[in-house]
Amino acid sequence: MSPTLQCLSGRNAVVVGASSGINLGVARRLGSLGAKVAIVSRSSERIGAAADVLRADGLEVTHHAGDVREAAAMQTIMTEVANEKGPIDIVLSGAAGNFFVPAAKMSPNAFKTVIDIDLIGTFNVLSAAYPHLKRPGAALVNITAPQATRAMPMQAHACAAKAGIEMLTRCLALEWGVEGIRVNAVSPGPIADTEGLARLATDADLADRIRGALALPHFGQCIDIGNAVAWLCSDAASFVTGTTIDCDGGMRLGNLYAPQ
Ligand code: HXC
Ligand code: NAP
Repeated sequence: MSPTLQCLSGRNAVVVGASSGINLGVARRLGSLGAKVAIVSRSSERIGAAADVLRADGLEVTHHAGDVREAAAMQTIMTEVANEKGPIDIVLSGAAGNFFVPAAKMSPNAFKTVIDIDLIGTFNVLSAAYPHLKRPGAALVNITAPQATRAMPMQAHACAAKAGIEMLTRCLALEWGVEGIRVNAVSPGPIADTEGLARLATDADLADRIRGALALPHFGQCIDIGNAVAWLCSDAASFVTGTTIDCDGGMRLGNLYAPQ
């Protein structure tokens, strides 16, 4: 991280789902580029601990506890952030839940739970932010996954949710572009040392197979996703909206000839 590059200096960012993993890495990256960052997740303990870590690194951070499944909670948080810091420049929506279960054994509530967190949660976050967004200039980024376009076994709920998020991204980009609001998505591939990868690569053999099937045969880092999000939120991407950046090491290419 360059201490001198401050391309997001003074921007007011809200990062949702940021108590751990990729989104915490995104919050760190936005903060390191000069943004004032509000981080959000369900657990007040976890989000408070994450904020302490970022503050210890010298970043300007506030934290808020709320469940993305509760629209009113998201509205309260966005209002608090805007009242305290002014119009919101950047929103990252990345809260998600995932677990391996074959569709035949997936209960309706298991399917609904993931749709509620990932897809409806993303709508709740963005619609709560909407009245408080900087116009023109706000940049919204949703976190999806290669599962949005590639069917994968035992993840029907997450695949459907992420596909929905990509379409929601395009629809909101279309409707809100006239106000100078850009809406994009980033699709991470497998990212090292994250809960998401731990849930998908359940043993070392499977981890090796997933890694070997990438065009770039190594797992990504949280900062790779932070960099992609930062670019989308920066002035360098001022004519980019309604798209998904695949930051996935080529996972979507689906290498059928990968060595086993
Ligand atoms: C089968 C399961 C299950 C499992 C939960 N359920 N875990 N079914 N196998 N392993 C079912 C429950 O039985 C219940 O259905 C329903 O799902 C809701 O479960 P709860 O435990 O009540 O839900 P909740 O407390 O709200 O927790 C949500 C959660 C949990 C998604 C289940 O795992 C969570 O909080 N996850 C957040 C962290 C996370 O998942 N991180 C990874 C994101 S990564 P019934 O019918 O019994 O009521 C990611 C990876 C890559 O998304 C991208 C891929 C697209
Ligand atoms: P993670 O560490 O489990 O992050 C998920 C975050 O979402 C946590 O901060 C969690 O915090 C929060 N969260 C979960 N449910 C919530 C809810 N209902 N309301 C508010 N916050 C909630 O997982 P990760 O692996 O870093 O994944 C982060 C994002 O990247 C997800 O969107 C995931 O789908 C995507 N992704 C990950 C990978 C990967 O390789 N890891 C690959 C592709 C896509 P609390 O528990 O405190 O609420």
